[in-house]
Amino acid sequence: MKAVIWTKYGTPDGLQLKEVEKPAPKDDEILIKIHATTITAGDCEMRRLQLPLMLSFPVRLYAGLLKPKRITILGQELAGEVEQVGKNVNSFKVGDQVFGTTGFGFGAYAEYICLPGKPDDAQGTLAIKPANLTYEEAAAVPTAGFEALHFIRKADIQPGKKVLIIGGGGSIGSLSIQIARYFGAEVTGVDSTEKLDMMRSIGADYVIDYTKEDYTNAGETYDLIIDVVGRNLVSRRLKLLKQGGYYFLAYAALSHLVLGKWASMKSNKNFKIESANQNKEDLIFLTKLIEARKIKPFIDKCYPLEQIPDAHRYAEAGHKKGNIVITVDH
Ligand SMILES: NC(=O)c1ccc[n+]([C@@H]2O[C@H](COP(=O)([O-])OP(=O)(O)OC[C@H]3O[C@@H](n4cnc5c(N)ncnc54)[C@H](OP(=O)(O)O)[C@@H]3O)[C@@H](O)[C@H]2O)c1
Repeated sequence: MKAVIWTKYGTPDGLQLKEVEKPAPKDDEILIKIHATTITAGDCEMRRLQLPLMLSFPVRLYAGLLKPKRITILGQELAGEVEQVGKNVNSFKVGDQVFGTTGFGFGAYAEYICLPGKPDDAQGTLAIKPANLTYEEAAAVPTAGFEALHFIRKADIQPGKKVLIIGGGGSIGSLSIQIARYFGAEVTGVDSTEKLDMMRSIGADYVIDYTKEDYTNAGETYDLIIDVVGRNLVSRRLKLLKQGGYYFLAYAALSHLVLGKWASMKSNKNFKIESANQNKEDLIFLTKLIEARKIKPFIDKCYPLEQIPDAHRYAEAGHKKGNIVITVDH
């Protein structure tokens, strides 16, 4: 089968299309013919090994000290069709159209993948694909959907609550806007100029252009802030959080851990650096929202498998809207 092999840490040139052996499912696994996968910010950070300090060494130790060895194929999200099932699997059958995540073994930049029929959290999770989405659209839902749902549920968002989404035009942000609206919140999205219309079109009540406005001094406060950007302005943005509110940071540096401790000692604000568990119940919940037409992933561009290095370059150049998807043509 064709797969894009991760041959070195660093630039997208290290992602090389190769012919490798097609995997065969063990008794508790299913073989999936992949039709679509995605380029997430997480894939690009992993490829560069540009991760939060507390993660970068353990991840390198796991993936391979000098070059990727244990994980050789990136790609965490997929949509495809079950081609074969192991004899102990009764959760899926041949022909099922599925979507989900691979877990920390990655492997979705390929024509086929074997995954457990009943995965635990570290192994990702799968469910039947929403009937009203294409494979390309379905592949763009899971990881961002898990994060968005986790943040919004944990903050107990209900009608009348105010939510600020920093990076609202990206992958996590664009689903967060829609899910927060579903739970009845008043939503403000922050992103760059060319994403303001897109954020309005998916339901943001207010939009802010971070390249033109300093919203940190506008006097507005929020019950929930989802910040997928982080960097050095977090302490200023934390002032926009109401007492008792939740601030979720998707990408954290060491200094943010200190800030979090400080905030919890000095105030009633909940500053959280955490990721969602990837479980089947949440994937099914997301499917119901999609089938009820409450949420829909926003796709910027699709690339074929052979052009994954270009897709990584595009994703990293900034200004992408929503998601970048890879179509796997068999
Ligand atoms: N996707 C996941 O499932 C997942 C899960 C856990 C953690 N994370 C982490 O969360 C982070 C974001 O993920 P993502 O997939 O949502 O990334 P993304 O799709 O690249 O979205 C980030 C968005 O933030 C915007 N942005 C950049 N600087 C900004 C600023 N100062 N103020 C407001 N908006 C700004 C970007 O727009 P411009 O480029 O136009 O500026 C972009 O639209 C990544 O570090 C990722 O590793 C992701």
